Order: sequence, then structure tokens, then C-alpha cells
Amino acid sequence: DRAELAKARQALRIGGAVSPGRAALALVPTMGALHEGHRSLIRLAREQAEHVAVSIFVNPLQFGPGEDYTRYPRTFDTDLEVCAAEGVSMVFAPSADDMYLPDRQVGVSAGGMGTIVEGVFRPGHLDGVLTVVLKLFNLVQPDVAVFGQKDAQQLAMIRRMVADLDVPVSVVGAPTVREADGLALSSRNRYLSSHERRTALALSQALFAGAAEPTPEEVRRTARAVLAGEPAVEVDYLVLVDPATFEEVGADHRGEAILAVAARVGSTRLIDNVTVTL
Ligand code: PAJ
Repeated sequence: DRAELAKARQALRIGGAVSPGRAALALVPTMGALHEGHRSLIRLAREQAEHVAVSIFVNPLQFGPGEDYTRYPRTFDTDLEVCAAEGVSMVFAPSADDMYLPDRQVGVSAGGMGTIVEGVFRPGHLDGVLTVVLKLFNLVQPDVAVFGQKDAQQLAMIRRMVADLDVPVSVVGAPTVREADGLALSSRNRYLSSHERRTALALSQALFAGAAEPTPEEVRRTARAVLAGEPAVEVDYLVLVDPATFEEVGADHRGEAILAVAARVGSTRLIDNVTVTL
């Protein structure tokens, strides 16, 4: 719980002699069901700081009414083994009651940026993410926090929150880890049947095909065509957006953009994205 966390954090600060110019503590926030993507974040965090803390908390605030909060995979014992194997100094795994007061009122608003792209399909989701991330920052007080590019809008919104609210944490983005065939690792992949897993490959294939095109129009058209070739993939959105604002880029955009997709395969909702250089 929180009291134990405070003690553990103090022990780390006092214990480890921190070399100058090196961060003392890096946090990797997760919802558990740890996979190779999470492990890559932990490894990057270890390069950034003397100690790594991992939080494991399935945050009820970021799940909508019809979503998978109750059936979200919970694999706490193996998660602890993963953390131990990766040299993690501290795991913070609070209960929902420990995190949220019964009469809580105040939360972080993601603003307009929380209502576009992913926000259209998951209203309130990004508010819930930012609220829990700010709470985790306040509780763990890391110098650095590492987030995956896999959840690109989440990462962009956390950078926005840190800038807008002067949060004293430096945010580091980590590349997306994929299976050999291109499927982005996700805790939700375990919901997929073997047939659905093959179908789901259309997401990464659409992104890779789109990313090879030279103009925004062709990027969108090519990616859309690949998705259309797999009718069992029900697309929520396919967008080519500015990496910082998540606004759609115009036809004459030059530089980087994010090609992002969200789609349902059976009852599983998947998201993925790649960075495109135009
Ligand atoms: P979760 O889905 O558990 O993801 C935890 C972190 O792992 C996120 O930063 C996510 O972007 C990253 N991640 C997931 N799959 C990845 C992959 N294939 N490659 C690289 N990184 C990957 O994202 C959340 O939890 C929550 O919203 C959280 C930030 C913990 C707030 O509740």
C-alpha cells in the first residue's frame, strides 16, 4: 500500500549512492500481464536511472462501461518474477481502494486532445490515464518515466500533461516491440484465437504498406486498401496525424507523422501505429 511504498522509496534514495548526472529512479507504469514490450521498457528505464520501479495497476478509471476491466488479464505472480528477472528495485501494486478515495472529485482532463482519434471511441479514457499517471508520479516520485510508442496518443498526452502542468518528471518514449510476423505485442493478444491472430496481422501489414508511400494521400489510401482486404477486421479509425497534437496532417505535410489504427477482431480491440517520414 501507500505507506509501504513511501518506506521503499526512502530506502532506495538513502541506499543507492547516486552518481552525478544520473537519474536516481525511473518508473515504468503498467497494468501487469507483462510481456516482452514491458520488458523492453524496463530495460530502457535501467539505462536511464540507478533504480527502476514498476507499477502494476489495472486502472478502473480508464475503462469504459462496455470494456474489459473485469476480464483484463491479471498475472501478478509471473509479473513479479519478470520484474525480479529484470532487476527491478521496487514494484508498486496498489488495490483500487488504495488508489482512489471513495469520495474522489478531482481528476486530470485531457482536454480537446482527449476527445479525438482514440478519444472518439473511448470517451474519458485518456482522462482516466492521465489521472492515474499523475497519481503514480506523485506517489512514486520518479525522475524519469518510460512509456511505449505502442500507445502513441497516450504517450503524446502524457508529454502534454507534463508540459501543461509543469510535472517534474522527464518522459521517455520506447519503440514498439513486435512478434516476428509484425503483430505488436499487447496484453490483449491473449484474447485472440489462432484464426483471429492471423486476421489481426492486417493491422501491422496495413501500417507497414502505408508507411512506404511518399505522400499523405497515398499513405492513407494504401493502408486503407490493405485493411479492406481483411473484412473480418472492423476498423474504428485509420489516421495519419501529427505526433504531438494527433490532428490529421494535410496533403502537403512534410516531416514525421503517425499512421495509427484501431480495429476490432472478434471481440478484441487492438491498436497499433508506425512513424512515417514524409
Ligand atoms: P499497459 O497497457 O500495461 O502498458 C504499459 C506500458 O507498456 C505502456 O507505456 C505501453 O505503451 C507499453 N507497451 C505496451 N505494449 C508495448 C509494445 N508492444 N512495445 C512497447 N511498449 C509497449 O498503457 C498502460 O498500461 C496504461 O494506460 C498505463 C500507462 C499503465 C496507465 O494506467
